[in-house]
Amino acid sequence: MRTTAPARTRLRLAGALATVLVAAGVVTGPAAQAGEQHGKQRTLAELAQRHGRYFGSATDNPELTDTPYTKILGDEFDMITPGNGMKWYATEPQQGVFDFSKGDEIVKLARKNHQRVRAHTLVWHSQLPDWLTSRTWTADELRPVLKKHIQTEVRHYRGKVYAWDVVNEAFNEDGTYRETVFYKTLGPGYIADALRWAHQADPHAKLYLNDYNIEAVGPKSDAYYALAKELKAQGVPLHGIGLQAHLALQYGYPTTLEDNLRRFARLRLDTALTEVDVRMLLPATEEKLAQQADWYRDMTKACLAVRRCVGITVWDYTDKYSWIPDFFEGQGAALPWDEQLRPKPAYHAIREALG
Ligand code: XIL
Repeated sequence: MRTTAPARTRLRLAGALATVLVAAGVVTGPAAQAGEQHGKQRTLAELAQRHGRYFGSATDNPELTDTPYTKILGDEFDMITPGNGMKWYATEPQQGVFDFSKGDEIVKLARKNHQRVRAHTLVWHSQLPDWLTSRTWTADELRPVLKKHIQTEVRHYRGKVYAWDVVNEAFNEDGTYRETVFYKTLGPGYIADALRWAHQADPHAKLYLNDYNIEAVGPKSDAYYALAKELKAQGVPLHGIGLQAHLALQYGYPTTLEDNLRRFARLRLDTALTEVDVRMLLPATEEKLAQQADWYRDMTKACLAVRRCVGITVWDYTDKYSWIPDFFEGQGAALPWDEQLRPKPAYHAIREALG
């Protein structure tokens, strides 16, 4: 257990929350409260669909044995992303030996729940297999390896996934190219190549570039804007920009998010919030949870305000399975459901924005 408050604190928080929700008009009376209690209300997916959007969650294979967890995953969302199962280390653990079992399990679950799949990710500097990172490559060696990886995986999931994060996290904070093995060996053209290869393998999948810290207008999102413009001008099959939106209360809200979404829309590109979470320094307090709720509300509204922002995915929906505490020391409580799978203020704020 990472963040659980003592029972009395939790009760006080719950009581205060109820007061806030009634005051905010989120919970308006006995009927609304009954709706909450008996789960008769519309799901996030249904609310999003009324705007022509989806509402998704990441998930991961080890969690799928948790029945209360998979129940909510299947009920509330209409888009699913495998948090790890489609990454290179998982899908090509030995060179030329492919294993799609993890991703397949999630695609199968999505199909059972009538959900679509945002597939993640083909080209990334992280979570690569050892055989790739433990040696040096020439361009002539690496190019066919990259092409084969992309095309084998995309072909495998052809017709089964809605979109691919083709290249993940290609830029540094200052807008220069990240010096990955792909960039250093193949040059910046690896991005256009990756998109073209993916498009050949599944002409119907929406192809995205995806990154964090590109929610606001700034050097890093400017780099994507410039690259996207160039790729579009060259006729490279790029369909969307994924804004991960791993936000942190202590760093401030990206107030230019909506403007940023709009400028990509003007390039005739879709956008999506692809890995949303809003972390905080622990312990979580009532105040921080309220601020977090405001951010979830504002992000949801920003997406709804821009027609080509096609949907929102949270990077798993519950603090029980969030990646944050493992990667950011002393931080957590980043998701709309708590560790006991109870909705937090952020959940109600999302509903309000979608409502
Ligand atoms: C994270 C997963 O959630 C963790 O389980 C894993 O250990 C590390 O990767 N940006 C991304 C995601 O694009 O793939 C990352 O997912 C989170 C940051």
